[in-house]
Amino acid sequence: MARPSLLTALAEARGVRAAQKRSRTRRQVERTDGTRVWIDGRELLNFCSNDYLGLARSLDATAALQESAAWHGVGSTASHLVCGHHAEHAALEAELAAFVGYPKALLFGSGYLANLAVLQTLLGRDDLCVQDRLNHACLLDGAKLAGCELKRYPHNDAEAALRQLRTRPDAATLLATDGVFSMDGDLAPLKDLALIARAENALLFVDDAHGLGVVGPGGRGSVAAAGLGVKQVPLLMLTLGKALGSYGAAVCGPSEVIDALAESARPYLYTTALPPAVAAATRANLRALQSEPWRRFHLAGLIARFARGARRLRLPMIESSTPIQPLLLGDEARALHAARELEARGLLVSAIRPPTVPEGSARLRITLSAAHSEADVDRLLAALAELGLEKRGAGIGDSGLADARGERVAEAAPEA
Ligand SMILES: Cc1ncc(COP(=O)(O)O)c(C=O)c1O
Repeated sequence: MARPSLLTALAEARGVRAAQKRSRTRRQVERTDGTRVWIDGRELLNFCSNDYLGLARSLDATAALQESAAWHGVGSTASHLVCGHHAEHAALEAELAAFVGYPKALLFGSGYLANLAVLQTLLGRDDLCVQDRLNHACLLDGAKLAGCELKRYPHNDAEAALRQLRTRPDAATLLATDGVFSMDGDLAPLKDLALIARAENALLFVDDAHGLGVVGPGGRGSVAAAGLGVKQVPLLMLTLGKALGSYGAAVCGPSEVIDALAESARPYLYTTALPPAVAAATRANLRALQSEPWRRFHLAGLIARFARGARRLRLPMIESSTPIQPLLLGDEARALHAARELEARGLLVSAIRPPTVPEGSARLRITLSAAHSEADVDRLLAALAELGLEKRGAGIGDSGLADARGERVAEAAPEA
């Protein structure tokens, strides 16, 4: 038999995606100016970035990056364990750990790498990883890479998590959840999960990519918002490319765990360290997060304003108190059509479709930023009002919600 071609299989899979109208295309951003982006020569008001605090274009961070690059160059030149670990990295690790109240932090190239690192290093073949079904793709991938048994419980169902833990009381276990869910914007029931983890002797790991800077006292994230700390949640992952407006990630935890990760996590050892100038820029934005609380207050006002307006319009929103405000449309074609109609009105909102979200739960993922004004939010609401997206009776936005969010769908993998 002739050897099958990998490239033919790749092309066939692409053809299937095209037939399903699930092809993905990148839009090229030609220029940005805060919440405005220019694409195909047109100015669009952006409602799909993760720059929740409007820090991605902060002048202080830009100056810090330029100054650091002037001294240290644009690259770290090696992995952390060779000669890529600079003073800026060490300072950022110490400041991040202090900010969230954890003993120690370890920088990673991205959140994706950080999650792979934690799961692959801690878990082995005989171990168990229990995860929320809507956890981010990289938590799922980390468990696959580790080769452990992976069990996924229905979204935010802490009792189901407990039942899954009890199926293997003798297995060393990691219980992993997003703090704020990337495609849904809701918060994990961390208090319940912490109790369960304690009762079952499992290690609780929270990925707070979308919580840092946005929720909790002083923007300390979802663990702090739940009144918890390192004792109940020994491992916490923070991404730097969202509310902190730069790039990279950190894992926070007890000193001995962080030191062990630094010695043995493959996605830490075998990759080039972040450019020190990026660490310098992140430090500037971490300072701004603490010294400019108006950003969080203004953002909270915008979230409330948008939620009120969406309720008045009877839009089928997934309930969320965070800057991630998903408008659930279910049907992929409807979501794409709505995104196109918004773009025609000068607004950039991404339609999120399977496999990023479960089948039947395509949506507009609207995100708000402290860089938006009230007038921006009103403009979005006015455009949405024109699209006829209001709830239809007890449709997908009401009782159909649980199914539409695909609790029974196994392989959905949020990516943003
Ligand atoms: C919940 C969650 N975890 C991890 C990541 C990955 O982080 P990064 O973009 O830094 O790789 C993302 C976003 O991409 C995310 O939404």
